[in-house]
Amino acid sequence: MSMTRLAQSAHPGAALARARAQTDSLFALVSREKLYDRPIAERHRMIFYLGHLEAFDWNLIGRRALGIPAFHPEFDKLFAFGIDPPAGQLPQDQPSDWPSLDEVRRYNLRVRETLDRLLEDAPRQLIHCAIEHRLMHAETFAYILHNENHARPLTALPPSVPPAPEMISIPAGTATLGLPHGDSFGWDNEFPETSVQVPAFSIARYKVANGDYLRFVNSGAAPPHYWTRRNGEWFYRGVFAEYPLPLDWPVYVTQSEAAAYAKSAGKSLPTEAQFHRAAYGTPAGEERVFPWGSQPPDSRHGNFDFARWDPLPVTANPAGDSAFGVSQLAGNGWEWTSTPFSPFSGFEPFPFYPGYSAPFFDGDHFVVKGGAPRTAACFLRRSFRNWYRQSYPYVHATFRCVDVQ
Ligand code: AVJ
Repeated sequence: MSMTRLAQSAHPGAALARARAQTDSLFALVSREKLYDRPIAERHRMIFYLGHLEAFDWNLIGRRALGIPAFHPEFDKLFAFGIDPPAGQLPQDQPSDWPSLDEVRRYNLRVRETLDRLLEDAPRQLIHCAIEHRLMHAETFAYILHNENHARPLTALPPSVPPAPEMISIPAGTATLGLPHGDSFGWDNEFPETSVQVPAFSIARYKVANGDYLRFVNSGAAPPHYWTRRNGEWFYRGVFAEYPLPLDWPVYVTQSEAAAYAKSAGKSLPTEAQFHRAAYGTPAGEERVFPWGSQPPDSRHGNFDFARWDPLPVTANPAGDSAFGVSQLAGNGWEWTSTPFSPFSGFEPFPFYPGYSAPFFDGDHFVVKGGAPRTAACFLRRSFRNWYRQSYPYVHATFRCVDVQ
């Protein structure tokens, strides 16, 4: 039984309660005053997300699906949408524009109590949307915290070097992207199932490490967002700790930085379909559920599902290798592709949430695959497609190169 099916046969109320516990534990890390900070200029203040998770569930399930009257229409609207504005249009609100923490908490409590009494009547699909939306925000909140100006103790790591480069040949074959209708939960952009013929190519066994990228920086490229230089030495700013640049950890970069690095090496970024071939393809031709096979993901397979805040070396978790021997295709950092985020042929937006994917089919957002340390295990399903703006420096996104044929 696949992991996705297991998640769906579990009691949806229990899965929602677990997701709430995950996001509650994140908000508990931030003091009352700091909740009104905005660590990322493009995003909302942290207080917004506290109201947003409940307002989303309430608007989708309570109001829209079950038709329950509003008890606080102002908050339903204030906390409804939290998507980054286009570059150059930064939000201008002040902390005093936001309600008090106690008011937000009262709203949240009432939403939870009301929904919990009615959950049995709610469409399963919408409960899945609520759970996954919340877990996505557990990740966005982690990278917001990563940009908060807090003290980061300097933490030593054993000295390291990146592994020797190794390219792995992937024969021509079929990549099955997306999901067939009616099988299991997926977001609008995962449908319908889509077969892509992929010519032979070769791909790096490992993600590009800080030590690899350092050579690029030494030859004149700009340093990545989370690097800091003091007295001629490079440091990596982790979520809660700072480290002398860990040369064997994957480098977090934007898609533009990743593409420029690949180009300078005479290579390119994989397409979404090439990533699928490397991750889920097998020499025999059938396709796997996960890179390592069909076992549900666990901590041996990779750095994901909130086990750590920061990456591990690019050689960690060999139990997660794909059938072709490619490492870390799930966890330890999303991987940039060269594929602009766009719909599969036959795409239809969910009528109850038309803004989930379609506004981002704009050529400026690119598909990322795989998952990061703060990515929930449910997003490791093969069909899940994530995307970020090409020049967005805050996300936990890594890359590897393919040979240009
Ligand atoms: C799918 C992760 C790109 O964070 O912008 C959260 C998820 N959409 N609320 C994002 C999302 C609406 C989205 N990503």
